[in-house]
Amino acid sequence: MDNPSYQALLIEETTPGQFSRQVTARQVADLPQGDLLIRVHYSSLNYKDALSASGNRGVTRQYPHVPGIDAAGEIVASRSPEFKQGDRVIASGFDIGMNTPGGFGQFIRVPAGWVVHCPRNLSLRESMIYGTAGFTAAQSVERLVIFPVPPEAGKILVTGASGGVGSVAVALLSQLGYRVSAVSGKPAAGKFLLHLGATEVISRQQAAESSEKLLLKEKWAGVVDTVGGEILANAIKSTSYGGAVTCCGNVASPELILSVYPFILRGVSLLGIDSAKCPIHKRKTVWQKLGGEWRLEKLDALVTECGLAELSGFIDEMLQGRLTGRLIVNLL
Ligand SMILES: NC(=O)c1ccc[n+]([C@@H]2O[C@H](COP(=O)([O-])OP(=O)(O)OC[C@H]3O[C@@H](n4cnc5c(N)ncnc54)[C@H](OP(=O)(O)O)[C@@H]3O)[C@@H](O)[C@H]2O)c1
Repeated sequence: MDNPSYQALLIEETTPGQFSRQVTARQVADLPQGDLLIRVHYSSLNYKDALSASGNRGVTRQYPHVPGIDAAGEIVASRSPEFKQGDRVIASGFDIGMNTPGGFGQFIRVPAGWVVHCPRNLSLRESMIYGTAGFTAAQSVERLVIFPVPPEAGKILVTGASGGVGSVAVALLSQLGYRVSAVSGKPAAGKFLLHLGATEVISRQQAAESSEKLLLKEKWAGVVDTVGGEILANAIKSTSYGGAVTCCGNVASPELILSVYPFILRGVSLLGIDSAKCPIHKRKTVWQKLGGEWRLEKLDALVTECGLAELSGFIDEMLQGRLTGRLIVNLL
């Protein structure tokens, strides 16, 4: 192929510590070397993208940069025997959108080891409604299922419930027959969460109430936490004997101040979740599940769609914790 230009949301450091976001023309020839050139059809907005797009050097070391840890599209050129031109694929995690130009551009070039085929019964658009957030929710739920925390064990608490990971977790757990208590800081999200299948909605304020106690009343058979900090500490202190808590995020705080008592007196387990370095064989299994037996009936209820031009405004909303559900970006 020749060297077409394409549109991308470019983040630049205009003055030290100040970052701009602009939709700009880029050249395919300037993309890094890699096995697969992919024409991106859809991307999605994840919290890590919002950090990268606002100059967070813990996520992205060097600017100018095109974020987007998720991309779903079609192979344009392949140097890998596993993929051929025209294949529908999902590229997510690893270094995409962090220090490698990501899905907020119409083309990416990446190693074949970062890419999976899109499950047959998912459209590229649908795959991005899940995106990394949905994939992480599925990993969290899978850990509880395998642990096992069965539906009859009791209620599951989901924190940051109206966000990307949280909303997919609520919908998935409910579809699998669990009773879900959803924590949200958005009073207006109550209806949305009940529609996704939550059986009750708890205010963030209530979930974050600080307590000197080392253990609290046992309430949860399991927890999917996406926020960290005091809310996670309270959730662990309130997990029932033998229960399990997954931990994937830190929007509230990266800190976790606790005693060992939930672990040594109640046998509670804390399960860490990482999607970025999740090995490719595991990645394929989770995506097949999301397209098959765990396919969400309420997938469409989760999604807002935008183009590159509107993306910057949504990034600001995410940084303020105001987004509900999943935002996908149409790059067609
Ligand atoms: N480990 C991994 O591989 C992995 C993968 C994906 C995401 N993550 C992490 O998971 C977290 C959630 O990601 P996401 O994509 O779901 O983000 P998101 O869509 O922005 O959702 C986060 C939600 O957390 C709640 N929230 C926001 N600020 C808060 C605060 N100060 N205190 C308590 N709750 C707050 C809000 O929900 P309510 O208004 O409903 O409370 C918000 O919608 C992030 O930390 C992200 O980095 C990790």
